[in-house]
Amino acid sequence: MIAENLFDLFQRYLELAYDGEQHLLKELPKLIEVVSSSHLREGWERSLELTKIHIERLEQIFSRMDRAAATETNHAIRALTNETEKLIKHIDRSPLLDTALIVVNNEIAHNKIVLYGVLASLARLQGMRQISPQLELSLADEKSTDAEFTEMAVSTVNPEAVGFQNSPHGVVII
Ligand SMILES: [Fe+2]
Repeated sequence: MIAENLFDLFQRYLELAYDGEQHLLKELPKLIEVVSSSHLREGWERSLELTKIHIERLEQIFSRMDRAAATETNHAIRALTNETEKLIKHIDRSPLLDTALIVVNNEIAHNKIVLYGVLASLARLQGMRQISPQLELSLADEKSTDAEFTEMAVSTVNPEAVGFQNSPHGVVII
């Protein structure tokens, strides 16, 4: 039985968020390593710091609930980070790769916006007055990250990718 009541559902989403954030803590440095745009690099460095804060917030919430911090595998986020690995493998380090990585970055942000949105709402409904503001803060962070990366894509990163031609790995073009 996955959930018998709203509290069980709340805990399940909390565990999915915790797993997603933990996973991103390992994945974000890979993006920082391959990114070409310095703005984007700084954006991902800020995301990495926020991810650490979000993990701490989730751990505080588990502890307020008198539960050990636990994870439920977040398959959606893992599928998206598999996609980033594929992109990194098949597209040269370039504005084109940056553009592709922002798309996946924002898909990941949307997953977290849904999770923190439902968590904040369920916490409010269940009268968890010390917990819901923490979740609202993380929700606001995820929304502003999404907006910030969209703005970077539209204003600088995507235009730089116009006209870029990726060369297949291992093929030397003379
Ligand atoms: Fe986060």
